[in-house]
Amino acid sequence: MKTISRLALGLSMACLLPLTTHAGEVEVLHWWTSGGEKRAADTLQKLLEEKGHVWKDFAVAGGGGEAAMTVLKTRAVSGNPPAAAQIKGPNIQEWGQLGLLADLTAVANQGQWDKLLPEQLAEVVKYDGHYVAVPLNIHRVNWLWINPTVFAKVGLQPPTTLDELFSAADKLKAAGYIAIAHGGQPWQDGTLFENLVLAILGPEGYHKAFVEQDPATLTSAKMAEAFATLRKLRSYIDADAAGRDWNAATGLLIDGKAGMQIMGDWAKSEWTAAGKVAGKDYQCVVFPGTQGRFIYNMDSLVMFKLSNEANRQAQDDLARTVLEPKFQEFFNQNKGSIPVRLDQDMSSFDSCAQKSMQDFKQAASNGGLEPSLAHDMAASSYVQGAVFDVVTNFFNSPDMPPEKAAEQLAAAIKAVQ
Ligand code: GAL
Repeated sequence: MKTISRLALGLSMACLLPLTTHAGEVEVLHWWTSGGEKRAADTLQKLLEEKGHVWKDFAVAGGGGEAAMTVLKTRAVSGNPPAAAQIKGPNIQEWGQLGLLADLTAVANQGQWDKLLPEQLAEVVKYDGHYVAVPLNIHRVNWLWINPTVFAKVGLQPPTTLDELFSAADKLKAAGYIAIAHGGQPWQDGTLFENLVLAILGPEGYHKAFVEQDPATLTSAKMAEAFATLRKLRSYIDADAAGRDWNAATGLLIDGKAGMQIMGDWAKSEWTAAGKVAGKDYQCVVFPGTQGRFIYNMDSLVMFKLSNEANRQAQDDLARTVLEPKFQEFFNQNKGSIPVRLDQDMSSFDSCAQKSMQDFKQAASNGGLEPSLAHDMAASSYVQGAVFDVVTNFFNSPDMPPEKAAEQLAAAIKAVQ
C-alpha cells in the first residue's frame, strides 16, 4: 500500500514537473507608472503569474517613454536586454536591424495573429516579414477631455471647432479656471502640436508633413498657422505647467481646477483609477477639427532573443497572453485604450472606448487612420526628436515668428534624415 502511494506520489510529482521546469522569468520594460497605467500593467503581471511564470518589473518612469528608451539602449549595448520592452512603430525596424529580436512566428501562427489584427498595424510589429513584437492596444491621440461640472458652471458646450475651443477657453479663464491642463515636457507639447497640424493642415497635410516629411508642406503657410495656433493655446495654460507630468495635468481636470485637456486616451486611465465614469464625470470629445480622423498610437512589446529555454517559453507565453480576449479586456479597460483585436466584444467597455472602436473601424475603412508622430508611430526617433526640439523651443520663445519655426522644422528634419 505504502509502495503504491509512493508511486502515485512520484507520478503526480512527475506530472507537476513539466510545469515547474517550464516556469521562467520575463523581465518587462515599460513606463506605465502613473496610478491608472500601473493598474493596467498589473493585469499583465497577474495573468502571467497565473501561468506559473515570474514577472520581473522593469518600469522606468517618464511619460512618452524617452527615459525608458535611454535605459533600454544602455542595457542592450551591454549585451543584457530584457525579455520584452515597450518599443513602438518604426523604431521596431531599427531594433530589428541590430539582429537582437526574437522571432514570434510560431506563436503568431498558432494564434492566427494575421487574422486577428488590423492589417496596416500588423505590419508595424513585423521585421523582415516575421512578428517580433506583440501589440497590446490602440490609443487614440486626438481627444479633448472635458470636466462637465466645470463646463456647466461656466455655461459651456463641448467645442467642435477650433474657434469654439478658444471661445470656451476664454470663458473658463475669465471664470478663474485653468482653461487647458497641460504639463511641461516635449512630448506633451508635441501631442498638442500634432492635433493642431491635423486640424489645420487636414489629413493630407498631416501625412505629407509627418510621414513623407515633405519640405514644402513643412514650410507652408498652413504649418506657420499651426505654430501660431500653438502659441495661442499656450496662453490658456497655467504658469506652473513647466515640468508637470501628464497625469498631474489630468489630476487638475479631475479635481475641477481645469476645464479641458488635450491628451491621448491613456488620460482615461487616471479617471478610471479615480472611480469616475465616462459620459457622466468626464467627457471625451474628438479634438475639434479632426472629426472622422483617428490619430493612432499602438503600444507593443518587442521581444528580445533569449538563451535560457525556460525564460524563452515564458516569453512566448507572455506574447500569447497579450492577445487573449481576457487580457485585452482587463488591460484596455484600465489603460484607456481599445483592444487591438477588432473582434473583441465591446459591451463591457465605457462609452469613450465604444466610440473609439467605432471611429477606428470607420477610419480604417476609409483611409482616415493617421499615425502619431509624438508617440513614435509616424517616423523614426530621430525625426521625432527634431520635431520636439523645434516645437518646444517655439513654445518657450514668445517672440519667434511662426514662419521661422516652420522653416526650422524643415531644416531640423532634413538634418537627421
Ligand atoms: C505613450 C504610450 C502610452 C502612455 C503615454 C504616456 O507613448 O504609448 O501607453 O504610456 O505614452 O506615458
